[in-house]
Amino acid sequence: MLDLFSEEAPWSEPLAEGAVILRRRARDEANTLMALVTEIAAKNPFYHRITPGGHRMSVAMTNCGDFGWSTDSRGYQYSERDSMTGHRWPGMPELFRQMATICAAEAGFTHFTPDACLINRYEPGAKLTLHQDKDEQDLTQPIVSVSLGLPAVFQFGGFERGDATQRVLLEHGDIVVWGGPSRLCYHGILPLKPGLHPLTGAFRYNLTFRRAFR
Ligand code: SIN
Ligand code: FE2
Repeated sequence: MLDLFSEEAPWSEPLAEGAVILRRRARDEANTLMALVTEIAAKNPFYHRITPGGHRMSVAMTNCGDFGWSTDSRGYQYSERDSMTGHRWPGMPELFRQMATICAAEAGFTHFTPDACLINRYEPGAKLTLHQDKDEQDLTQPIVSVSLGLPAVFQFGGFERGDATQRVLLEHGDIVVWGGPSRLCYHGILPLKPGLHPLTGAFRYNLTFRRAFR
C-alpha cells in the first residue's frame, strides 16, 4: 500500500569493486550521532592540525576510540593520546561502533570492529586533497565513512594520485564503505560550498571508522 507519510528507505549504490554508498543509511540516527559528536568535542575540541609540511589543514579534526589519527610536525600517525592536549581520546560511543560494524557487514565486510574514529569538521571552503588511507596495520579491514550535515563532493579514484576520479555528492546520512580491492583507492573532498543545514548549521561532519591496529 502506498504510504504517503513514510520517508524514502535507504538504498545502496555501488561505487567500485569493494566500495558502496549506503544512501541515507544514518539518517534516522543522525540527531543522536551529532549529540555524541558534540559531547566528544566538549572533551577534546576540534583543531586545525598542522601537516608535516607545515600547512594548516582546512578541515578541523578530533577523534574518539582507543586510537586517534592525527598529524603534526613528526608525521601522520595513530596514537592513544592527542599530541595537542596530552589526553587520551574520548571513548567510542557504542552506537558509533555498532553502526560501523553493521554497515561494514552490509557492504560485505564481516567482523569489522573499529578501534579508531576520526571526526572531520568541514567549514565552507574546507577540503581534503586526494589521499590514500594507509596508516592502518590490517588493510583487509575496510573504511566506513558517515556524512552528516551539508553535502560535499567526494572524489574516488584509483591507486595512483593521477588516475581518473568519480565524483559523487555525499549528503546527510550517507555512508560510504570501501575495502578489499578498493581499500587503497585515492579519495578526497572538494571545497565545501556554503550553506545552512537544519542539524549542523554551516558545517559538514564526517565520521571515519578504521581498524588502526590488529
Ligand atoms: C577522509 O577521507 O578521511 C574523509 C572523507 C570525507 O570527509 O567524506
Ligand atoms: Fe581518507
